This record gives sequence, structure tokens and C-alpha cells, in this order.
Amino acid sequence: MRISPRIQFTENIILECGDEAFETKGVDLSLQGIKIENTYPEYCKDNVKVSFELNGKPVTLNGKLYRNEQKEMVIVFKESPEKIAETVGSYITNKIYESGHCPFCEYPIQKTDKYCPKCGMYLNFSSSNVIKVINDFKLGKVIEKLTQEEKDSIVETGISNNMEMIGTNEKMKEVFHLIRKYAATDYPVLIVGETGTGKELTARAIHQKSNRANKPFIVVNCASIPSELLEAELFGYEKGAFTGADKRKPGKIELADGGTLFLDEIGDMPYNLQAKLLRFLQEYTFERLGGTQTLKADVRIIAATNVNLKKAIEEGRFREDLYYRLSVLTIELPPLRERGEDVVIMAKYFVDRYSKEIGKNIKGLTKDAIDLIRSYSWPGNVRELINVIRKAVVLTDKEYIDAEDLDIKVDSSESENISNILDIRKHTERLEKKLLREAFIRTRGNITKMAKLLGISRPKVYKLLEKHNIGEIHIK
Ligand SMILES: Nc1ncnc2c1ncn2[C@@H]1O[C@H](COP(=O)(O)OP(=O)(O)OP(=O)(O)O)[C@@H](O)[C@H]1O
Ligand SMILES: [Mg+2]
Repeated sequence: MRISPRIQFTENIILECGDEAFETKGVDLSLQGIKIENTYPEYCKDNVKVSFELNGKPVTLNGKLYRNEQKEMVIVFKESPEKIAETVGSYITNKIYESGHCPFCEYPIQKTDKYCPKCGMYLNFSSSNVIKVINDFKLGKVIEKLTQEEKDSIVETGISNNMEMIGTNEKMKEVFHLIRKYAATDYPVLIVGETGTGKELTARAIHQKSNRANKPFIVVNCASIPSELLEAELFGYEKGAFTGADKRKPGKIELADGGTLFLDEIGDMPYNLQAKLLRFLQEYTFERLGGTQTLKADVRIIAATNVNLKKAIEEGRFREDLYYRLSVLTIELPPLRERGEDVVIMAKYFVDRYSKEIGKNIKGLTKDAIDLIRSYSWPGNVRELINVIRKAVVLTDKEYIDAEDLDIKVDSSESENISNILDIRKHTERLEKKLLREAFIRTRGNITKMAKLLGISRPKVYKLLEKHNIGEIHIK
């Protein structure tokens, strides 16, 4: 999926590398870089200066030279989004509006369109914010040549087969940063977030980036296993430990030895079992149910919850000591509605991914669909977004997914509430009544004085008093 435009650009270009300068010709120009004719000596790579004219004005940008998969020479710009926006971004934007067509889907566009009316792609690249979103997205997906550090900050790839974690928003960059930091340690981690925000994915990412990656990642969902079975599930049991225990069974802690144990919905763990888990976290030893032998396991614990554990502690449902043990390292996953443009970037990504998965050639989302995605509050977060997009991809016959293809139930009570809050007429009426009553009290209902105070005519005062059903009137 291409999300930044590319235009033909066959102007003369000067390349500077140290003390040397070369002349060459451009092939095409994008926000990321410039493709040049294949004449440039390759011994100078990392720091080049590229100079050319844009609309008669000289521009010099720093860059890095490399050969792309088609063996063409490309200079990738190493400049701030602000600089790209004011130079190449403005130039490309002008060219796009001049051409009158969307550079992605060729649909006719107007100078006033910020997004393509058909495919919903950005059209104005003279804003540094737009450049930033695009760069962030592309760093991880396309420009493999950039450093791992830059790439990681945008898309966490390789978490497991076919699993990627996407985020360009500052809050998500902070999450990625913490994932990397925590992966380097063996301490427990507590992941907090609403349903569907990616808690399990985050836990897997930490595991994959840790030196336990080749060892098991075991998941135990504390809410879905009946509490009387959870203990046996975690710690295992010996033959005869309870009715039905006809052979020894290792617990998940043993199975996770050397790796990571993910305790999902930790807030639902029964109180008495929390003490046993705490002991394990202190000594990394345990006994199987019905067993006497003390066993050791080298397990990293990652716990997740979508409930407020502090509240659970106050209500006596969660042990404070366990909470402090678990929450030394914490990651808070922001709800999707607080991740800004990420919701659109992810939606486009999922359209691309799921349409490829089922062999359909869906090109993207319409502007209406994007507007709807932006305005919806996504209570089910990323999981809900995935479900909505997947369903639309499967059901639509169109090239572009439209708003009507998205099975989103916009919460009408929410929009009603908002319209109540913002309704000018209702507020005006309330204010009118308040002022009228105030004037009524001050003048003791003297219409002439009221008319003067309120700055309206006497008949109008009568009308309003009647409308708002206010007091007895004393006419002089
Ligand atoms: N940043 C992201 N980028 C791409 N996919 C994501 C991202 N976050 C979550 N997902 C996907 O969304 C779905 C839900 O994520 P996950 O199961 O990790 O959420 P969760 O917080 O554990 O949810 P729950 O509270 O319901 O258990 C998964 O399919 C996951 O791969
Ligand atoms: Mg989960």
C-alpha cells in the first residue's frame, strides 16, 4: 500500500559528498526521497547533500544513498518533517492540485479537497503533521534500510508470525519504548488497558524481544478457568491429589520454565491463590497440588488486567502485596479513541491485510468511511476495529470500502447528549428565563421597569412572562 505520492521529476540535480560534487538527473520525487539516474559512484553513501530547483527556487537537503530492490539509485531524505513539508511537500502538493487528479486513485479532485473524495488519501503534503504520520508509517513498513531503532519506534514487527503492532501516536511510541526496555529484564510486568487494546499482543512482544524468545510463552486466563481448577492449572498436581487426578500433571508454571507466563485478567484470580502466586514471585519455588517436593522454575511473569486493581484492593478482592510485586514495571495501553490518526492508519492497514488474505483487490476506504472511523469511539478498541474491517472486506463488492459497509452502531445516546450540551436554542431559552425571573424579582413585577431593565418592549415582556410561566403581574 502506497500512502505517500510520487511525481515525475526529471530536473538536474547536484550531489555533494564530502569535497566532491556530481551532477545527475532526477527520475521521480517523493516525500521520502528522490530517485536519480543510475550514474552516481557508490562509494559515498551515508551523508550526501542533494541540491535542485523547485519552481525556480534552490533547495538543498541532506540524505542517504542506497539501491532499492529494483536496483535503482535512491536518495532518502534525512530531514525534519517541517523541512520536507515546506520544500518537497509544498511542491508535490501544488503539482497534485494542478493535475486535478488524486495521485493514488486518479479520481478528479478540487483545490479545496484535503482528502481524496474517493479513496480518502491525504492530498495536502505541505503540513508537517501529515508528513510525520506518513513517515512514521513508512519507516517500519517500507524503508528497510533505516536503522532498527527508528523502525521499532513505529511498527513492532516479528512479534510472532503474521503479527504486527502498529502505532504512530506518541502514547504508542512510549508503549514500544517500554516494551523494549522491559524485555531486557526478568521482572514481572503489569499491563493495564481496556478490552481489545492489545494487552496480550504487548505481552507477546515483550517475550519475543527478550532472551526468552525461544522458550515457551504460556497463557493462563484467570477469568475463564473455574477458580477451584485454577490452582491445579498453574501449579500442577500429583496423582491422587484430588478425585479424578489419576496421573501426575505439570502446571503451566512448569511448562513455562525458561520462558514467560502470561496471566491474563489477573484481577479475577481468587484471593487465596494470590498468596501462592506471591510466594512464587518471591522465591520462584512451588509445590504441585498433593506434592511435598519443592520445585523451582525460571519463569517471567507478565500479568494483564482491564479492571482497576487499586479499587479491587480497597474492596478486599486483591492483595496489596501482590499488586506491588507485580506493578514495578507497568504498561498502560491507551484506548483507541485516544490514539489520534492511528485509528485511520490501522484501518487502512487492516483493509490491505485482510483483502490480501482472502484474495480480494480492495483499494482502500472512502472519505465517508474514514470520517466515520474517526468519529466513532471504538469501545471495543483494536479488536472491534479489526472485526468491523474484516466484515466489510468480506462483504463488500466495491473497490473502496464505504461508510455503509462498516457495521458501526454509532451510539445515538452519546450524540444526543452532545447535542444537548451544545444546543444553542436550549441554552438561550434557559438564560432568557433566568434573566426574566431576575428582572421580575427586582422590579416586583413592574412591567415598565422590567421592559427598561431587559431592554425590550412592554408587549414583549408580557409575551415572555407568559411563555415562561412566571409570577403574578402587577400592572401600574
Ligand atoms: N497496535 C496494534 N496493531 C495491530 N494489531 C493490534 C494492535 N493492538 C491490538 N491488535 C490486535 O487486536 C486484537 C486484540 O488484541 P489483544 O487480544 O492483545 O487485546 P487485549 O487487550 O488482550 O484484549 P482483551 O482485554 O479483550 O483480552 C488482536 O487481534 C491483536 O493482534
Ligand atoms: Mg486479552
